Amino acid sequence: MSKNADSNPNRRDFIKASGKATAAGALAGVALPHVHAAVDDTVNIALIGAGGRGTGAAHNALSVSAANGPTKLVAMADVFEDKMASSHNSLSKRHGKKVDVPAERRYIGFDGYQKAMDNLKEGDIAIFTTPPGFRWVFFDYAVRRGLNVFMEKPVTADGFGTKKILESNKIAKQKKLKVGVGLMCRHSKARREMAGRIADGELGELLLLRSYRMHGPVASARSLPQKEVAQYRDLEEVRWQIRRFHSFLWASGGAFNDYYIHTIDECCWMKGAQLGDPENVKQTSWPIYAQATGGRHYRGNYVDQNLDTYSVEYHFADGTKLWHNGRTINGCHNEFASYAHGTKGLGIFSINGHWPADAQMFRGQTPNPAQRKWRFNKVVNGTLIKETDPYQDEWDDLLDAIRNDKPYNEADRGAMASQVCNMGRMAAHTGMRITWDQALDIKEPFSPNLDKLSLKGPAPVVADKDGKYPVPNPGQMAFKDAKGDTYYKEY
Ligand SMILES: NC(=O)c1ccc[n+]([C@@H]2O[C@H](COP(=O)([O-])OP(=O)(O)OC[C@H]3O[C@@H](n4cnc5c(N)ncnc54)[C@H](O)[C@@H]3O)[C@@H](O)[C@H]2O)c1
Repeated sequence: MSKNADSNPNRRDFIKASGKATAAGALAGVALPHVHAAVDDTVNIALIGAGGRGTGAAHNALSVSAANGPTKLVAMADVFEDKMASSHNSLSKRHGKKVDVPAERRYIGFDGYQKAMDNLKEGDIAIFTTPPGFRWVFFDYAVRRGLNVFMEKPVTADGFGTKKILESNKIAKQKKLKVGVGLMCRHSKARREMAGRIADGELGELLLLRSYRMHGPVASARSLPQKEVAQYRDLEEVRWQIRRFHSFLWASGGAFNDYYIHTIDECCWMKGAQLGDPENVKQTSWPIYAQATGGRHYRGNYVDQNLDTYSVEYHFADGTKLWHNGRTINGCHNEFASYAHGTKGLGIFSINGHWPADAQMFRGQTPNPAQRKWRFNKVVNGTLIKETDPYQDEWDDLLDAIRNDKPYNEADRGAMASQVCNMGRMAAHTGMRITWDQALDIKEPFSPNLDKLSLKGPAPVVADKDGKYPVPNPGQMAFKDAKGDTYYKEY
């Protein structure tokens, strides 16, 4: 018996082998002139969360290289008709017959995720691009059904969600399911080369990492009271909060998780963050505690739960710091970038956003072009070597793993990166130094019953009579449990 005899057969080999076996079995002893054994090795896809990124992810899934195709979209789920219609129209126009989602396979409602996934068979892929609060609910179902998954970042909004994802992923790993997480920068060739060079010591010992995400208010991060928004005044409270998901901590982890996770995660990566055991984070290179400041400014009538500024100091076990700066205020200095300072120089990346990373390394601690010692984008023999789109790369990598049964599971890493965000945000919201364990073992999860959510409610967070939601009040977020032990809440 080969040493790989217990592993999943590679999907193409399986289809080839089972096609041959069926043909041989059915045709034994029968003389037929010519038989065409039509074998369909299409990977079917269900999209759950047909919004902006969901439409983009499905487009990437349908655009994988010929070597990794064919792929087909067969089911969609959302909780809004308008989102469903616009996503279905746009994908159909772009991909024609690869979008095979008739009205009866377009599901609207909170149980739509199950119905959409029920159209898939083992080896197919479920895409989760709803607000992240729902990830653990969907992931649990997909794992039980034996489906491969692509889920967008962040994958959790609090420690409760992180534990749920890690728990389900134990089974996903036993089943050898392939799981991609939309931290696409991890698939960027420029960042990969840079991480390798840093691991090889080209920047010496890393002492400080810095990440910046500073711009005006983004997406649904600022919200007015529902009754003041004519278009949504009569919408059920639950769907109002989903529509404005960056405003609500239960749904997204706030603008903090949704927007800051990329640069925070890539800095942890450059520092060499290993998967390791989340219950024993000192054994890994993820940060072990965070302290932070943040504030709300010029709020006017905005009622969302976000702070508008965040400055977080993450502490790694060896004393290295990661300093993250986030701001959503117009009229200020804007910056989107990541930096790694080592004893032998400086690395910069993401200076113009996610793609291209324009990763570079310098002698000294300033990005002085005369001192540049490496840059990914470069002219070699008259040809410009530049990066490919990491949003597409992550899909080709996932399909390659499915087609060729390569180990591929990013769920633990996605959960750890999300948890680093949860810890930093919690430090800012409570005003306390928050350890990994405190952030993981929260006493009062934001929304532990999302698997039972219904249109009738109740909504996971409730507004007061003026339509205002509870907000973080740093310094006032300590509470006592029944045993008299102190614990922290974010609002
Ligand atoms: N990797 C990236 O760079 C990137 C970029 C954009 C968005 N994202 C992520 O993608 C996710 C979605 O963001 P978006 O900008 O597309 O938001 P969006 O609001 O455009 O899309 C979310 C969709 O999910 C639907 N939905 C919500 N709850 C649902 C449920 N329970 N069942 C089914 N459908 C549900 C919504 O109605 C909406 O259509 C977020 O986690 C976001 O962080 C990642």
